[in-house]
Amino acid sequence: MDRSFVLFGDICYTESCDRIISCPASFLVVEEGKITGVFDRLPGEYRTLPMYDYGGRLVIPGLSDLHTHASQYQFRGLWMDEELLDWLERHTFPEEARYSDADYALRAYSIFADDLLSSPTTRANIFATIHHDSALVLCQLLEERGLAANVGKVNMDRNCPPSLTEDPQASLADTVSFIKTVRERFKRVHPIVTPRFIPSCSDNLCRLLGDLAVRMDVPVQSHLSENTGELDWVSSLCPDSASYADAYRRLGLWGRVKTCMAHCVWSRDREDELLENDNLYIAHCPDSNTNLSSGIFPARYFLDRGVHVGLGTDIAGGTSLSLFRAMTDAVKVSKLYWRYVDDSVPKLDFAAAFYMASKGGGSFFGRVGSFEEGYDADIVVLDDSDSPTCIEGLTVAQRLERYSSLCPEKPVCAKFVQGEKLQTGY
Ligand code: GUN
Ligand code: FE
Repeated sequence: MDRSFVLFGDICYTESCDRIISCPASFLVVEEGKITGVFDRLPGEYRTLPMYDYGGRLVIPGLSDLHTHASQYQFRGLWMDEELLDWLERHTFPEEARYSDADYALRAYSIFADDLLSSPTTRANIFATIHHDSALVLCQLLEERGLAANVGKVNMDRNCPPSLTEDPQASLADTVSFIKTVRERFKRVHPIVTPRFIPSCSDNLCRLLGDLAVRMDVPVQSHLSENTGELDWVSSLCPDSASYADAYRRLGLWGRVKTCMAHCVWSRDREDELLENDNLYIAHCPDSNTNLSSGIFPARYFLDRGVHVGLGTDIAGGTSLSLFRAMTDAVKVSKLYWRYVDDSVPKLDFAAAFYMASKGGGSFFGRVGSFEEGYDADIVVLDDSDSPTCIEGLTVAQRLERYSSLCPEKPVCAKFVQGEKLQTGY
């Protein structure tokens, strides 16, 4: 089938934080890879299009993972009793150093790419490592599977082991070459400029990368205000800055292009810059923030102030690649924030979590994450027929809510990106 078709099933999506739209036994029309609309009866003009019959299955927009590290997939689920800075030093950096070997990268990234393929994610912002060639291996594996992603060759030139410490000019040159090569070779995989975080990047390197992102029109991803030890370190590295965000701003890395900052756990009341720049996205990573004892990001506080907030899995701070897990975790930690920190910040409900994982985060990638007209036809089909509990009498949205917490890791039964059906193997 080409990229124009009708897909029948129990369809569910959201246009805003407040409400999930349930369309039982309905028709999703896709033309040339874009959504035309959802219909309860198929209009005559579309009757000649090929039909995928997913009757009884849940059909949702593809989800967007705003922040993850493919290079940490090998050790997820281990060493979860440490905090960020020790965990980076003892486990993360030694593992990332192994990606100087492109053969190791091929084996490890293949596992990551296969698991991403069977997950509900169709778009992702991904950190590789500093290694140019290995990062290209990751891009190739994603592209071969039809996945759409922004992949970053990571930049680091201080406070890390010698094997991961780049010379700033060489780091810049490698990044330029990476951006050009990715643009030449791949259709769905795009480059993203990836300074790891301020403790790993000198002022000089940050400035070079900020200017590069503007010059070559490439988005940026990094980490912001995740852990209190990190905040203290950044204050001592950047004594003239009023905050961590202000340090990025002074170094030319603040929202000059579309920018995704992971975490922002400690940003409230410190970093009003987040409220003022429409290019800024926050990747909320609740699993990682819990595992590394980082704290609780007050998602609703920022959503209510119009900030773009999506979800991230942050492997290997997070243990699971599933955005369903991220959705349920986001709801849970918001309740703890409300109970223990500040009851003036409302709890998240499932609709808000679904919005963040679909249309909210998806907008980082364009018109992605909804079934409104003109959106890219990123579609995920889920089978909840063997759900361990009775599903009779539930709305489509309730079935999705239940699926999300009961079977977050279950492979999807079909997946489409921009109207192309991927070979998920299930
Ligand atoms: N901050 C800088 N690097 C990292 C990383 O790899 N993971 C997490 N969670 N935070 C970071
Ligand atoms: Fe991270």
